[in-house]
Amino acid sequence: MRALTWQGKKDVRVETVDDPAIVNPRDAIIKITSTAICGSDLHLYDGMIPAMMPGDILGHEFMGEVVETGKGGTGLTKGQRVVVPFVIACGACYHCSKLQYSACDNSNPVDKADLSETMFGHQASGLFVYSHLTGVYAGGQAEYVRVPFADVGPIVVPDGLDDDDVLFLSDILPTGWMAAENCEIEDGDTVAVWGCGPVGLFAIQSALIMGAARVIAIDHLPRRLELARNLGAQVIDYTTANVREALLEMSGGIGPDAVIDAVGMESHGFFLDNAYDRAKQALMLETDRGRVLREALHACRKGGRVSIPGVYGGFVDKFPIGALMQKGLTIRTGQTHVQRYLPLLLEMIEEKKLDTTFLISHRLPLEDAAEGYRLFADEQNETTKVVLKPGMERSQQDRTS
Ligand SMILES: NC(=O)c1ccc[n+]([C@@H]2O[C@H](COP(=O)([O-])OP(=O)(O)OC[C@H]3O[C@@H](n4cnc5c(N)ncnc54)[C@H](O)[C@@H]3O)[C@@H](O)[C@H]2O)c1
Ligand SMILES: [Zn+2]
Ligand SMILES: [Zn+2]
Repeated sequence: MRALTWQGKKDVRVETVDDPAIVNPRDAIIKITSTAICGSDLHLYDGMIPAMMPGDILGHEFMGEVVETGKGGTGLTKGQRVVVPFVIACGACYHCSKLQYSACDNSNPVDKADLSETMFGHQASGLFVYSHLTGVYAGGQAEYVRVPFADVGPIVVPDGLDDDDVLFLSDILPTGWMAAENCEIEDGDTVAVWGCGPVGLFAIQSALIMGAARVIAIDHLPRRLELARNLGAQVIDYTTANVREALLEMSGGIGPDAVIDAVGMESHGFFLDNAYDRAKQALMLETDRGRVLREALHACRKGGRVSIPGVYGGFVDKFPIGALMQKGLTIRTGQTHVQRYLPLLLEMIEEKKLDTTFLISHRLPLEDAAEGYRLFADEQNETTKVVLKPGMERSQQDRTS
């Protein structure tokens, strides 16, 4: 089959590789119809996540048709259309029983002594292709993919919904939803969201649905800020305003009730601390850039809530523990417990309470996946979300930007 492989920093290639096969009784093989590129893929593309190996098949946001199932009773039948969560979970361990699917104890087959246990204190759960720390699962930017624990993860798509309507159930829609849920929004709240990429945009939409009186979105890319404004957010361009001062002014001097870091480890901007982080990263003395995290913690009101859907992989310097403690802030974060949110969010899509297609800027053939990565990494203003389709001819491609 054809699949997109990671070869090194900023080097991804569509190659011919072996087809996947059923390995365990609860596996299913899915023929991919749509798959998307995520901000998390950019961390791999930029070489920020350790333990990737040349040849790893990329992609954790995907959906398609069931073509084969294991003998263990996956509950799926051939021909069904399914969306697959990026989190792999057994559904039966201590954590899964608490609906903390991204903390599953049984989905990462790598040896217990792996790097993730050393770095995090506990072994990471299984995620599709998120390096060899999270299992060694081939991803779905390919013609076919093997889905483990297929009785727990995939959700069957009802007739009448297009791929574009439901594809983002695989990750960014539940991620934006959980980011807003982690803010414990109360009526009248002001919520500030850093980053107007796909995760930030879905967090904005979710926060407004959950009753936030006001959402303030922060980025510097005009097109992305415009999408945030269209959703109903007020916006701040961090290149022309002092973000903390602007937020204070917009919230009657007290600061936002809740803040969301939808940027993560690769924050941009010409700030002293960001330059410091970049220098330390280059010397391998620090793994992650904490600019947005610091700014969000400083801006949040006393007693407020901090939600961090943005991915961090290791260690951040100059973490403002004083602001966290002295202001009595609460932090909630994590890889999304995707499976927990699927029934609710699917229902909301069917009832048209959520818009899931407004952010798609490119629909490209899988063969053009490398160009899709380049656009999403280097032309972020125009490229708000790229969907790849294995069966698509080049003549059918769609670039709405
Ligand atoms: N927790 C999870 O399960 C989960 C799931 C999916 C994605 N993520 C993470 O969420 C983050 C966002 O993903 P995405 O797909 O939206 O990525 P993206 O790269 O498309 O968007 C990031 C946005 O942040 C903006 N930004 C950069 N520096 C900034 C700054 N200093 N202030 C304000 N905005 C700034 C960029 O301009 C960009 O628009 C990534 O870290 C990704 O890995 C987490
Ligand atoms: Zn993703
Ligand atoms: Zn489990």
